[in-house]
Amino acid sequence: MTLVIAMDGPSGSGKSSVSKGVARALGLRYLDTGAMYRAMTWWMLHEGVPVDDPAAIAARAGEPDLNSGTDPAAPTITVDGVDVSGPIRGQEVTGAVSAVAAVPAVRERLVALQREIIGAGGIVVEGRDIGTVVAPAAQVKIYLTASAEARAQRRSAELSGASITATQADLARRDRLDSTRKVDPLAQAADAIELDTTSLGLDEVIEEVLRIARK
Ligand code: ADP
Ligand code: CDP
Repeated sequence: MTLVIAMDGPSGSGKSSVSKGVARALGLRYLDTGAMYRAMTWWMLHEGVPVDDPAAIAARAGEPDLNSGTDPAAPTITVDGVDVSGPIRGQEVTGAVSAVAAVPAVRERLVALQREIIGAGGIVVEGRDIGTVVAPAAQVKIYLTASAEARAQRRSAELSGASITATQADLARRDRLDSTRKVDPLAQAADAIELDTTSLGLDEVIEEVLRIARK
């Protein structure tokens, strides 16, 4: 099974939900690369590494032992054996993750780990740079988008009632940080199929991706 489906796009465009749905429908594994950047950030904060100091982050980027479970029905992530699935979604990690993810030593280590997990394939991989950097040979490349308003609305609903305005400001801040790096992880692969999910339901998006993957 060599199929690799790369699912890229900004926050709240639907990558996680769509990737898990597609992986389950096709019997594939699933990898959330954002969770890996979040887990690395959680560990830096836990260790007291100053997250505004790229040199300090780079010096320690090789230390944490990260493990990603790839079952789409129950994805897990551990750092040094500790399940951090909950804490990596907290505000502290969300506020620091773009800065940590911008450090080249972090990206090099995590991209290498991601390629190891992808191995021979049979997997849906979601992130920002999957179709461009991590798996440029992926047979199926999807770039999900949605309006800034729709993305903020979805995220704040998930965060049980967080203000839409504050959530939209946070997403805009992260999109800006994520796309002003030397190598832009929000850049779309030239051969990716773009799907605007603003006015589509989750099931419709999954169906559309399955249709593309079966071609
Ligand atoms: P991402 O991984 O791109 O940040 P998620 O898959 O986590 O996005 O989606 C964020 C939220 O929006 C989730 O609660 C999800 O159920 C919801 N969602 C995703 N896609 C759609 C869609 N097409 N229509 C409505 N809600 C959606
Ligand atoms: O779920 P959400 O879209 O909010 O974010 P995520 O996918 O969990 O990713 C969190 C952060 O990790 C992003 O804002 C990026 O800074 C970084 N990231 C990255 O740089 N490259 C990836 N392949 C995935 C995530």
